[in-house]
Amino acid sequence: MFKSICKALACTLALGSMSAVMAADPIIIKFSHVVADHTPKGQGALLFKKLVEERLPGKVKVEVYSNSSLFGDGKEMEALLLGDVQLIAPSLAKFEQYTKTLQLYDLPFLFDDIAAVDRFQMSPQGQGLLKSMESKNITGLAYWHNGMKQLSANKPLRVPGDARGLKFRVQASAVLEEQFKALRANPRKMSFAEVYQGLQTGVVNGAENPYSNIYSQKMHEVQKYITESNHGVLDYMLITNTKFWNGLPPDIRSELDKIIVQVTAQVNKDAEQLNQDAKQSIIAAKTTEIITLTPEQREQWRVAMKPVWKKFEADIGPELITAAEAANKAQ
Ligand code: LMR
Repeated sequence: MFKSICKALACTLALGSMSAVMAADPIIIKFSHVVADHTPKGQGALLFKKLVEERLPGKVKVEVYSNSSLFGDGKEMEALLLGDVQLIAPSLAKFEQYTKTLQLYDLPFLFDDIAAVDRFQMSPQGQGLLKSMESKNITGLAYWHNGMKQLSANKPLRVPGDARGLKFRVQASAVLEEQFKALRANPRKMSFAEVYQGLQTGVVNGAENPYSNIYSQKMHEVQKYITESNHGVLDYMLITNTKFWNGLPPDIRSELDKIIVQVTAQVNKDAEQLNQDAKQSIIAAKTTEIITLTPEQREQWRVAMKPVWKKFEADIGPELITAAEAANKAQ
């Protein structure tokens, strides 16, 4: 009798723990971002979700919130630190509160093209920057490309003097503020979600963005001209909360790391094409004239903006700037 009670008890306990295992809640990863789905970052977030749910079914669930629908600029970093989201990918312009070294990426005319950006990001110095905020509980997992920025306005911008007196929306970056001040224009920090309305109502007259952001936010509908200036880069750092990431079960973390490598390769392969497609869609919409600069005109913009470097050189570190410049020469 005693034996059979024990057996029954053991069985109940075993069943209990089995159902506990079966019912174990999946780890939820909330991935919040500010752009549309059909952009390099938007596509990257969706691919990450797809691969995680294929390879870690029932173990990890990914929720993607695009277009500032959960947190917008300014709030998303705070949310990551509070554990309200687990992954975000802010533009490299949005980290200055946490590290000054990433201001490097905002220096105008630093990189000749996205291939040079890629070479620098893959270098030991570029990879080192991913770890520059760990003391602040922020771990960089990867760089994702968007692309080179173009200037837009309601008047044609061919030479630096054309920008004088105009109000330009900038991301939350002291470097970008100085860049427009160097043109005697007026920079105005504004979150990404507000840009369309800002341009529509005339709170600002111009902006700078890669084609994919301009088209997906319909900015071309409220900007008559885009100058293909390629004067700077808008790329992202995919980041997580260090404590959250390090606290994940090792097998899950290592699978997530592998997935991120795969997603990063895909995002960085497709970004340029997405920007070229967006450019073609803007041309087809016939709302906006795209201005191509002559080499002499582009040189004038470079000369006008370059003095900005000096102001940030000490904070960024001159060696880092030299390493980034070296990436312009393919080895
Ligand atoms: C911007 O604010 O213009 C960009 O950082 C938006 C983005 O995430 O591409």
